[in-house]
Amino acid sequence: MFDRKHSCVVVVGAQWGDEGKGKLVDVLAEQADVVVRYQGGANAGHTVVVGDRQFVLHQIPSGILHAGAICVVGNGVVLDPETFFAELDELGGQGIDVAGRLFISDRAHVVLPYHKLLDQASEKHQQIGTTGRGIGPTYEDKIGRRGVRVADLCRAETARAMLAERVERANALLQLLGSAQRASLEEHLELVERLSVRLRPLATDTGRLVFRALRDGRRVLMEGAQGALLDVDHGTYPFVTSSNTTAGGAAIGAGIGPTEIDGVLGVVKAYTTRVGNGPLPTEAKGEVESRLRDLGGEFGATTGRPRRCGWFDATVVRYSVRVNGLTGLAVTKLDVLDSFDEIPVGVSYRLDGEECDDVPSDVELLERVEPVYETLPGWGKSTTSARRLADLPPQARAYLDRLQDLAGAPIRYVSVGTRRDQIIEV
Ligand code: GDP
Ligand code: IMO
Ligand code: MG
Repeated sequence: MFDRKHSCVVVVGAQWGDEGKGKLVDVLAEQADVVVRYQGGANAGHTVVVGDRQFVLHQIPSGILHAGAICVVGNGVVLDPETFFAELDELGGQGIDVAGRLFISDRAHVVLPYHKLLDQASEKHQQIGTTGRGIGPTYEDKIGRRGVRVADLCRAETARAMLAERVERANALLQLLGSAQRASLEEHLELVERLSVRLRPLATDTGRLVFRALRDGRRVLMEGAQGALLDVDHGTYPFVTSSNTTAGGAAIGAGIGPTEIDGVLGVVKAYTTRVGNGPLPTEAKGEVESRLRDLGGEFGATTGRPRRCGWFDATVVRYSVRVNGLTGLAVTKLDVLDSFDEIPVGVSYRLDGEECDDVPSDVELLERVEPVYETLPGWGKSTTSARRLADLPPQARAYLDRLQDLAGAPIRYVSVGTRRDQIIEV
């Protein structure tokens, strides 16, 4: 994706999350100078496998495993400082040195314990199936202009005054929501006291850092979290996360202008998964779903929940190409389909007897659509050692060609296993 004309590339999930963004960011970070996470928070779980070691990153960019990469948590992220430092310490324990190359935007909003209580209390009223990480309430506070930012935490006096007011407000809300839980001001003050010391040296104007890197001819990779169908504007609202997961969010969440972005890589699984509630038109049932789940290891990297599984939905990916402006696709987990005799692909929908080739805005309509399937022959061979397209069985290549035609964007990468080296560059 990087070349002389492309120095700022965004990696986004083009389905419902967990497409393998972490793996692709790790692969591409080899060529990048700066890697920026631009939205979401500890709801994300990005898995990177290097040799026989597995790393699950939630808030730290997946570029961190490359010693030369500068990693940035952008202003669009909602930062949970407690779990952020736990993640950092775990990486340190695994021998990953981040000293001097990890920065956090001082404009990023902070997830506090009361946000998590509110997230859990809200779930009792509206079952979205959130990760319970306080994401929605933190973004609500940001938009409501009552958020607490990293810059605020760095100033002890300001933080104390803000917290007294915010905790009282959160407790009133918890009561309104019928929750017996209450946030403790002491716990918040202690947390801030303990973590602001560690936060201060990492906090900076990261938008300026990224801007300067681009101006100096450096390569910048932007790492999205979640997927297009979880975008608060373009996803299956209200069954979405609370941020703009699509590529437009990258400029805002990293603090640069949209004209800096040269390419957008959409990561898609060779099939479809979703965690949490909401429509999933090509969801498989019974044994087929369990087989996909077992073969793909489809259990949430953050919550451990079993992922709902189904066939590739070309309508969703076509839509994702449109709302993200995708310039390329990375198809992951092709190897998971190795043993299937036949592979259905959802090519469009039928809605009340009419053909429908786009994702309807109304979630109730999307619940009602019936996918139109085309069945492609399987290849019945392992693809895990393929490193060039030519190494793949002809049926696997035909499968990829069909996905590319239906999606309307060129396939640039094919992933055939969890490990860093199990990748085909097209
Ligand atoms: P992300 O949230 O988009 O980064 O994706 P996750 O890490 O949550 O989920 C993707 C899972 O699939 C992880 O366990 C990866 O190790 C794994 N994975 C990624 N690419 C491949 C692949 O090509 N084949 C197989 N079998 N697993 C893969
Ligand atoms: P990565 O980055 C898959 C889903 C939750 C829920 C909805 C709202 O690993 O792809 P939230 O906690 O964000 O308010 O939950 O979004 N969700 C994800 N699903 N992958 C993720 O992240 C997700 N992050 C949130 O399951 O349905
Ligand atoms: Mg994930």
